[in-house]
Amino acid sequence: MLKGKHILLGITGSIAAYKSALLVRHFVKQGAQVKVVMTEMAKQFITPLTMATLSKNPILVDFYNPENGDWNSHVSLGMWADLYLIAPCSANTIGKMVSGVADNLLLTTYLSAKCRVAIAPAMDLDMYRHPSTQRNLEILKGWGVEVVEPASGELASGLEGKGRMAEPEEIAAQVEAIFSRGGTLQGKKVLITAGPTREPIDPVRYITNHSSGKMAYALAREAALRGAEVTLVSGPVNLKASHPGIKVVDVVTAAQMFEATKANTPEADIIILCAAVADFTVAQAADKKIKREKSNYNLELTPTNDIAAWVGENRCGNTIAVGFALETNDEVQNARGKLARKNLDMIVLNSMRDAGAGFGHDTNKVTLFFKDREPVECPLKSKEAVAADIVDNIESLL
Ligand code: PMT
Repeated sequence: MLKGKHILLGITGSIAAYKSALLVRHFVKQGAQVKVVMTEMAKQFITPLTMATLSKNPILVDFYNPENGDWNSHVSLGMWADLYLIAPCSANTIGKMVSGVADNLLLTTYLSAKCRVAIAPAMDLDMYRHPSTQRNLEILKGWGVEVVEPASGELASGLEGKGRMAEPEEIAAQVEAIFSRGGTLQGKKVLITAGPTREPIDPVRYITNHSSGKMAYALAREAALRGAEVTLVSGPVNLKASHPGIKVVDVVTAAQMFEATKANTPEADIIILCAAVADFTVAQAADKKIKREKSNYNLELTPTNDIAAWVGENRCGNTIAVGFALETNDEVQNARGKLARKNLDMIVLNSMRDAGAGFGHDTNKVTLFFKDREPVECPLKSKEAVAADIVDNIESLL
């Protein structure tokens, strides 16, 4: 898996730096080429000699070699690497990465890196749970940086809690997962609809549903991690796309989602219709706030365009079209009906009867139905893991 891969390992000042030696040894044994960049402070925790010996490469700390003036180019380091892993990554470095501070080689390399970036935070529990650290980690994730969650346990301070760097085996497994995902959708264009739509009743009220967008955003990230160029046509949600390979097209109403989807369909290799689109819109939205009356008030609703059915009919020959079905009853029959009626290649069934699945949850439980294959069951797991299963199955259709 790691054979021939270029891994740039950044080491910051933390007692966990001793684990970096084990990481380098593991990567080299797997056939990867490893270069190490350290901060000044990191040298207090593990010697450059140890790291140079294990990585079989000179250690980089300064912008230039004071002996002979050789320039250590952060740009070419970033270009050389397939993955830039900063482990351990201190709270100080995390904060600087977010703020764009470039006062050492490790940080300038981060700012110019074009490769995937992962960090393994290491710090005391109070530093880890401080709102600024948590906010910084969220921002980095939003920029596509993979975060290897720290573990709980005894810390260098003697306190117990979350903050110690993940064990080398766990970091190595995540690195392998990053590489295994990479590239399988390189060159593919993926179009995904996300979230709910809002159909205005008057300037202050609308009809909507409970979709949070989590499932669709997880799919977008999974596709982008595999190298796809993703267009995410998103209804109003409180999420940020967490990968630079995702272009978000914000829409509000079903009609706007329809137009944005139509515009992006001709280019797409894969279309995933995950949005919970309103099936009806208000025939005549009022232009002023409707006043409360004593008598009943009737709203006339008209059907929206069925975006999935339009895609099923108008996509190019090789484009894969995948829909979702959210059902409260007669799940299998309804899902199969939608698969056929909307002319899709696959449909992902969510049942509202399954605890922890569907709207809003961080988890989902789905069954995948195909035109001419046996269904595939995905048991309850995180929406990220479900997204990986769905994308695996889509790849098998390509
Ligand atoms: O956003 P989350 O909180 O993470 O929840 C995820 C989800 C439950 C919203 C998602 O997994 C899901 O099931 N999405 C589809 C919900 C839905 O509207 O299902 P449906 O059975 O009504 O629609 C069937 C298919 O037609 C869907 O692919 C839907 O996107 C599409 N459709 C429906 C109506 C319409 N006007 N246009 C459409 O494209």
